[in-house]
Amino acid sequence: MCGIVGYIGRREAAPLLLESLRKLEYRGYDSAGIAVLNSGKVAIRRCEGKLGNLEEILARSSLPGTIGIGHTRWATHGRPSETNAHPHRAGDIVVVHNGIIENYLELKEQLSRLGSRFESETDTEIVAHLVDAKLSNGADFLTAVRHSLKEIQGSYALVFLNQRDPERLIVAKNSTPIVVGWGEGETFIASDIPALLDYTRKVTFLEDGEVGEVTAKGLRVLNGKGKAVQRAVKEITGDAVAAQKGGYRHFMLKEIHEQPRALTDTFRGRISLKEGDVSLEGVPLARIHVVACGTAWHAALVGKFMLEEIAGIPAEVDYGSEFRYRSPLIDSRSLLLPISQSGETADTLAAVELGRKRKAKVVSICNVVDSSLARKSDGVFYTRAGPEISVASTKAFSTQLAALYLFAIGLGRLTGRLQRSEAKRLTEDLLCLPHQVEEALKLEGDLEALSRELSSATDFLYLGRGINYPIALEGALKLKEISYIHAEGYPAGEMKHGPIALIDERMPVVVLLPKDRYFQKTLGNLKEVESRGGKVIAVTDQADGAIDAAAYRVLTVPRASYFLTPIVLAIPLQLLADEIAVHRGTDVDQPRNLAKSVTVE
Ligand code: AGP
Repeated sequence: MCGIVGYIGRREAAPLLLESLRKLEYRGYDSAGIAVLNSGKVAIRRCEGKLGNLEEILARSSLPGTIGIGHTRWATHGRPSETNAHPHRAGDIVVVHNGIIENYLELKEQLSRLGSRFESETDTEIVAHLVDAKLSNGADFLTAVRHSLKEIQGSYALVFLNQRDPERLIVAKNSTPIVVGWGEGETFIASDIPALLDYTRKVTFLEDGEVGEVTAKGLRVLNGKGKAVQRAVKEITGDAVAAQKGGYRHFMLKEIHEQPRALTDTFRGRISLKEGDVSLEGVPLARIHVVACGTAWHAALVGKFMLEEIAGIPAEVDYGSEFRYRSPLIDSRSLLLPISQSGETADTLAAVELGRKRKAKVVSICNVVDSSLARKSDGVFYTRAGPEISVASTKAFSTQLAALYLFAIGLGRLTGRLQRSEAKRLTEDLLCLPHQVEEALKLEGDLEALSRELSSATDFLYLGRGINYPIALEGALKLKEISYIHAEGYPAGEMKHGPIALIDERMPVVVLLPKDRYFQKTLGNLKEVESRGGKVIAVTDQADGAIDAAAYRVLTVPRASYFLTPIVLAIPLQLLADEIAVHRGTDVDQPRNLAKSVTVE
């Protein structure tokens, strides 16, 4: 997820672009850059790292001009560097982009054969070359953009600057947001509203497939067929900070709701696993060691079921903080699979150090391009969840599970255990997942009263079986880390071996019981709890009279495939923890004693 901005009008563009980018830095901060057109010449300034670096560059060498574009990057293709920083240029065309061009490699090959020379590793740069080539063949600016978009597959919010045309910017949108702000004799472009609120509250949102011609007088919108369409000008109310959180009360809730999009981005263009950033060829497969911490460790536990049942490869799971102390049987025949949102967790990195010393191949699942973990890995399967700001991990967790699922399918095909037809069925199940998560998110409205009632509890139990037991652990972790209520996740079958002594009417017990192979046994555990006065909150994927008869409350999520049910079950647990924490007045995004990335052992 990146932040893009544009400006055309009567004021100096550079300071406005910089200020707007500052409001979008939450969308990514791997690199930044702006381009300004002045007296027929485009000047570009770019830097690796945060916006502050760009500010220093501009302080030393300003960019005069009243039309320009800017970008703050969250890297998806190509490591964070000045070369890969946007804006990207080809001839007279300069472009900034938020999104993923799925077919960029084949377009890059086509353009290279036609003589294009590329500087960067990014997918975005090919777009500048596409448009410039059409411009050079005599097309006008708008037509060159429209025709180029027909060759592109994927998601994009694009802003184009043409060195030969100081009167307009061209914008284009497909499944990634872009908003145009109307000023007096000036017009603003941004990925998100916060970047506009200092200048205007009159905005127009582009729809998918639309292209816009932006001048100092305003915006003209064309649909996919090139026909002019009317787009409403909306008045924005509310404060900028709320807008930065997209109107959500805090980042955690925003990120919980971003999961359908994050899942789509994570598997977009990878279902064939060709572009999966994981070279499965030559990967040693005697056994897999999955190592992680916290929520990522819960993902690893679910991943064990996927790797063993889909790919048929033994998978051991360890906490990063424990792995190196148990003298693991890891060697050159092993694959070490660290999972980390930040890629900076010291315990996980320490496990990687040991793995490398033992000559194991390291392929990681990570959410931050070029993080320490990425740089220490032989291969990286990036989740594309976008920056996860809230300390409590949610969208990174669900995309880690999606990545493990894809990885298991790829390994299953590699080892020959998985027939193509079965792999196709499994990938089709994944395509249904974003919608299932979207449906599960609708439970948010039903949780307010229940959460208020449960927020005074001092202890919670979360129970699950099999592949869903790790989700019981995850639900407990979500609750304890943001509401400070003690909570434990347990295998449902373990209750009778001790923990059932804890049950009384003050103890809420969340029981995960989708209609899967474990249903009847888990229903039995639910009844054991209920018969001892426990308050059961059942989470299921199919209404059932027996559950209704025994549970205090039933939360029903959409039915998903066996391996993907954990992701859908996690949604109400995330929402419940969030809602309870709000009732308890804790700082949901920055809970006490915690940090987003634990860089100490
Ligand atoms: C999860 O909500 C916590 N914030 C924490 O357990 C986290 O998952 C853990 O510290 C691992 O972080 P990583 O994924 O960045 O390695």
